[in-house]
Amino acid sequence: MAVNKAPQPFLIEPMRRGDLDEVVEIERVSFRSPWSGQVFLEEMSRDWAHVDVVRDAVRGSVVAFGNYWLVADEVHLLNVATDPRARRAGHASRMLAHIIDFGRRHDCRLVTLEVRRSNAAALRLYRRFAFRSVGIRPNYYAEDQEDAIVMLLDLD
Ligand SMILES: CC(C)(COP(=O)(O)OP(=O)(O)OC[C@H]1O[C@@H](n2cnc3c(N)ncnc32)[C@H](O)[C@@H]1OP(=O)(O)O)[C@@H](O)C(=O)NCCC(=O)NCCS
Repeated sequence: MAVNKAPQPFLIEPMRRGDLDEVVEIERVSFRSPWSGQVFLEEMSRDWAHVDVVRDAVRGSVVAFGNYWLVADEVHLLNVATDPRARRAGHASRMLAHIIDFGRRHDCRLVTLEVRRSNAAALRLYRRFAFRSVGIRPNYYAEDQEDAIVMLLDLD
C-alpha cells in the first residue's frame, strides 16, 4: 500500500549561489549595516563557515537564513534573519534548533553570539533557547556605538 506522505513545508539546507539575491534582500531589510552579496559569497567559500537557509518547500523561496562558524569546539552564530513578511512563524527558531543540533553533532561545548542590547526580539528568541548573557562588549557596533550582549549556550 502506498504511504501518502505530505511534503515537508520548510526545509533547512545550505545556501546556494541562486539564493544570493533573496538572502541579500532579507539582510538589507533586517540590519542597520547590512552585508553585501560579496560578503555572503566569501562566507560560502570559507571551510569553517556555514550559511543555511530556511526554504519554503512549495514556493522554493528563502524565508530565513543563518550564518555560523565552527571554530574548534565552539559554534559562533554571526547572523540569523527572517524575511519581515514571514516573521513570528517559527523560522528563526527552526534555524536556531538546526544550528544547536549541528553543534551537538560536532561535539561542540557551546554556542556563542553577540546581540545588540536594544534587540528585544532577538534577546527573547535566544533566551527561549536557554542562551544566557555572559558579558557586554561596550560600543561594539561601529556605526552607532551600541553595546553588544555576549550570549552563550552550554551544550554539555
Ligand atoms: C529576531 C528575528 C530573527 C526573529 O525571527 P522570527 O522568525 O520572527 O522568530 P520566531 O518566529 O522563531 O520567534 C520565536 C520567538 O522569539 C521571540 N520573538 C521573535 N520576534 C519577536 C518580536 N518582534 N517581539 C518579541 N519577541 C519576539 C518570541 O518569543 C517568539 O516566540 P512567539 O512568536 O511564540 O512569541 C527577526 O525578528 C529578524 O530577522 N530580525 C532582524 C534581524 C535580527 O535582529 N537578527 C538577530 C540578530 S543576529
